[in-house]
Amino acid sequence: MSDRTHVGCGCQRGASHEGAGHGGAAVHVDERRVNVMSVRLRVWRQKHAGDKGGFVEYDAGRLTPDMSFLEMLDVVNEDLQRDGDEPIAFDSDCREGICGACSLVIDGVPHGPGQGVTTCQVYMRNFSDGATITIEPWRAQAFPVVRDLIVDRSAFDRIIGAGGYNSTNTGSATDANSALISQAQAEEAFDAAACIGCGACVATCKNASAMLFVAAKVKHLNILPQGQPERRQRTVAMLKAMDDEGFGHCTNEYECEAVCPKEISVEHIAFLNREYLRAQVLSSGMRPVITEA
Ligand code: SF4
Ligand code: FES
Repeated sequence: MSDRTHVGCGCQRGASHEGAGHGGAAVHVDERRVNVMSVRLRVWRQKHAGDKGGFVEYDAGRLTPDMSFLEMLDVVNEDLQRDGDEPIAFDSDCREGICGACSLVIDGVPHGPGQGVTTCQVYMRNFSDGATITIEPWRAQAFPVVRDLIVDRSAFDRIIGAGGYNSTNTGSATDANSALISQAQAEEAFDAAACIGCGACVATCKNASAMLFVAAKVKHLNILPQGQPERRQRTVAMLKAMDDEGFGHCTNEYECEAVCPKEISVEHIAFLNREYLRAQVLSSGMRPVITEA
C-alpha cells in the first residue's frame, strides 16, 4: 500500500479558475457556493483489480454542511476532470437509500457515521470543518476491487441465483389475496425483505461473513406460504453458495447488525441456523419422536 499525495484539487483550484476566466460555461462548480467548509480526503485509488493501489490525498474546499457525501465527491471529480485528472470511481444509483450501490468505507466504518443510513444518506455536517476523511472500498475476498472505490458484488447475485426466489406456481393475483398471512408474519417477512444487498455486513465482519445477508434473503421467503415448497432446498443451496463464494462464517460479532443501513437484526441469523438444522434433519429422514410426559 503506497501513500501518494495529490494536494490542490477540489474547489480550491476551481476558485482560481474563476478569477483567471478559465473554462467559462465549462466550469460546473456552483459559483455561489461559499467556502464554509473544507476537508482533506485520503482516497483509495486503484486502476484495476491487479493494481496494488494506494491512498491519494485531495483537498476539497468550498463545501457546505448540507451537501451529501456523494455530492462532495461529485464536486471533487468535476475539478479533477477539469484539470485532466482521472475522476475517483465510486458506485451510486438511487442516492436515496434504496439500491445499496453506494458502498464506501468512511473512516473505517462501512457507510460512515450515523445509524441506519447508506453512504448516500451521509451529509458533510457529520464531519468537522478541516477534518481528514479516509475513504476505502469494501474489503473482502469475495468482493474484489474493480477500480478505486468500486467492488464486484456479483457474488451476492450468485447466492440469490442459488435459491433466493420462488419457482413454484403461486397462482393468480386472486389466489395471492386469498392466502391469509398474519400481521406479525407479514411484518417479520417485510423486515427481512428490507435488505438492499449492499454488503456492508460483509465489509465490517472480521470473517467477511455474509450470514446476515443470506439470513435476510432466506427468511423473507421461508416464512411465507409461497416459500414453503422450496424451503429446505433454498436454505441449503444459498448457504452452500455463500461458502463457495469464499465468504467466512459467523462467530457472533454483531458488527453486521451495527452497520446495516436497514438495521437487519442478527435474530435472522439465529432463524437461518434453525432452518439449516431443520433441513438437515428432514433430509436425513429422521422424524421427531413425541413422548408422553
Ligand atoms: S443485511 Fe444489511 S448490511 Fe447486509 S447486505 Fe443487507 S442491507 Fe446491507
Ligand atoms: S445510491 Fe442507492 S442506496 Fe445509496
